[in-house]
Amino acid sequence: MIHTARLMTAAIAASTVLVTGCSVNSSVQTYTPGLAVQMKDMQYWTHKLALSIEAGNLELIDFYHHELEEAVEDLIDSVESYDGFPIAELTESMLEPALETLEDRLDEENLQGMRTAFAGVVQSCNSCHQVTEHGFIRIGDGFGNNPFNQIFTR
Ligand code: HEC
Repeated sequence: MIHTARLMTAAIAASTVLVTGCSVNSSVQTYTPGLAVQMKDMQYWTHKLALSIEAGNLELIDFYHHELEEAVEDLIDSVESYDGFPIAELTESMLEPALETLEDRLDEENLQGMRTAFAGVVQSCNSCHQVTEHGFIRIGDGFGNNPFNQIFTR
């Protein structure tokens, strides 16, 4: 028993050193995910937004709309261009207006309008994939297809 307790103390001490070491490193370097990883996150929020709209859950729609908006702002701030394509500029001109339209319908609590506006968001994603020579990445509306272990209704 005593032996086990000593081992545990040693393990805790070692992990404290590791944790301290990590926090020193992270203050030196900030990690910015690449374009594909940011897109992956955007797809995740977009899909959960779709399922919240389908469930008509205004609180949840507001939450995921906000998360997607933040991901889009991070993208604009961190990726000016990629493969010669002006990513930040295209995102501002194509995707942001579609998200703002959705926000207007959300403010009006207009669910049918939100579905239409959401289709516009997905269309913006796909249009940008086309103009950046990634037209083979096609996003669907995401309704009726819940692979998450999460309940979207209130
Ligand atoms: C500025 C143009 C642009 C916009 C806007 C855009 N994408 Fe992309 N997307 C790209 C490019 C370029 C790539 C390829 C990135 C690479 O080659 O690493 C990509 C890749 C992807 C991928 C592949 C990565 C993966 O995880 O499978 C997904 C998914 C994706 N985008 C989803 C979206 C969604 C959802 C939206 C809208 C909410 C969106 N994209 C909006 C340009 C865009």
